[in-house]
Amino acid sequence: MSGQTPSTGDAEKTTDPVMGVYEAIRRRRDVRAEFTGELVEDRVLERILTAAHQAPSVGNTQPWDFVVVRDRDTLGTFAAHVAEARARFAESLPADRRETFDPIKIEGIEESGTGVVVTYDPARGGTHILGRHTVEDTGLLSAALAIENLWLAAVAEDVGVGWVSFYDEAVLTALLEIPSPVRPVAWLCVGRVSRFQQTPDLERFGWRGRRPLADALHHEKF
Ligand SMILES: Cc1cc2nc3c(=O)[nH]c(=O)nc-3n(C[C@H](O)[C@H](O)[C@H](O)COP(=O)(O)O)c2cc1C
Repeated sequence: MSGQTPSTGDAEKTTDPVMGVYEAIRRRRDVRAEFTGELVEDRVLERILTAAHQAPSVGNTQPWDFVVVRDRDTLGTFAAHVAEARARFAESLPADRRETFDPIKIEGIEESGTGVVVTYDPARGGTHILGRHTVEDTGLLSAALAIENLWLAAVAEDVGVGWVSFYDEAVLTALLEIPSPVRPVAWLCVGRVSRFQQTPDLERFGWRGRRPLADALHHEKF
């Protein structure tokens, strides 16, 4: 081999960061309390979003869009809305679950300083979507795959991501002026972190632990 690296076009490798995919999967955490307030750099965010945008999608529709939110007022407005949704959920809980839930932080909207809202457009690709004609959910699942790509790429960049779903879809749609029929499917808090926890918060706080693979694995029939 000559010392020259052949160009691979779109698939060209970045030299930094380098992390094995299994390592990124193992280290990934939903981050809430560990955001330092340091904004993720634009070039890093672009790499992370590029990874998200490379996700597989039904009929190659790529039904996602990404709204990057950094305006302090918008972050504050959304955080206040989420706090209300959190309070409503807390009130709905029986006393023992309420006690377990109370200390659990469920978002880092303002601390992360960056929200990436992932949307899903069911109209993307027109009326004859190859593969979605039988399973409608495959559209939404495609957007979820973009989110997972984003999440893992962020880990490889040492950037934390926290998924917030404590919101009223109509409120978020109005806040970001998302046009119909596009739907917001996730508010992701993205930012630099002090550390990644080794154990999911919900497990650490006694809300719910992880299932062993053996419980989830079936052979031949469910
Ligand atoms: C669809 C979805 C919605 C979620 N919504 C929230 C949320 O509103 N607030 C929160 O703190 N975590 C949320 N999470 C994060 C989960 O609580 C977290 O992934 C789970 O407890 C496992 O922890 P880990 O991601 O650190 O492995 C969400 C995760 C997913 C996949």
